[in-house]
Amino acid sequence: MKKLEERILQDGNVLGENILKVDSFLTHQVDFSLMKEIGQVFAEHFRDTGITKVVTIEASGIAPAVYTAEALNVPMIFAKKSKNITMTEGILTAEVYSFTKQVTSTVSIAGKFLESSDKVLVIDDFLANGQAANGLIKIIEEAGAEVAAVGIVIEKSFQDGRSLLEAQGQTVLSLARIDRFENGKVVFREADL
Ligand code: G4P
Repeated sequence: MKKLEERILQDGNVLGENILKVDSFLTHQVDFSLMKEIGQVFAEHFRDTGITKVVTIEASGIAPAVYTAEALNVPMIFAKKSKNITMTEGILTAEVYSFTKQVTSTVSIAGKFLESSDKVLVIDDFLANGQAANGLIKIIEEAGAEVAAVGIVIEKSFQDGRSLLEAQGQTVLSLARIDRFENGKVVFREADL
């Protein structure tokens, strides 16, 4: 997605070896018009595939996921990273290890929001090592539902996420694919959409 790549080049900051800071439009402050376009691009691609739900994980996956869901006119569900007191029964969970934060957390979705007849599009802001997406896939499969594909806003192609997901037979579609960081600059490879 050309517009997204241009925005990353304009406003993204490379931190250290392998982190891209995009807090001015995606991970902290949110550019709703860009998010809406992102949602429309995903929705356009999946328009005739019978998607019934969009699933993401809090926090930064929510903005692209909600616009994708709006454009597909289906519900959006975000997995929670901490259980709250209103989540009392029928909780589906998965353990997610974050290489970035070096902690394992339990992510959860209330089972009542996923049915075995659902065809789910997983959306997330970043694909790095694929642990978050992997956890979401486990939860969706636990519900007996089908994962149609994983849609990613920014993929760091030099990390293992895509290969981990593809090895499980998942389809990964990324709007921007970062090949490498070179002297603090982002170098893209060809994106999927
Ligand atoms: P993984 O899910 O692909 O395995 O990623 P990893 O454990 O490495 O990353 C954990 C968190 O860090 C995730 O967000 C992920 O989106 C984010 N992340 C990974 N690489 C980058 C990066 O280069 N830049 C930025 N800005 N974020 C990155 P999270 O902990 O779920 O945070 P949030 O969504 O609540 O903000």
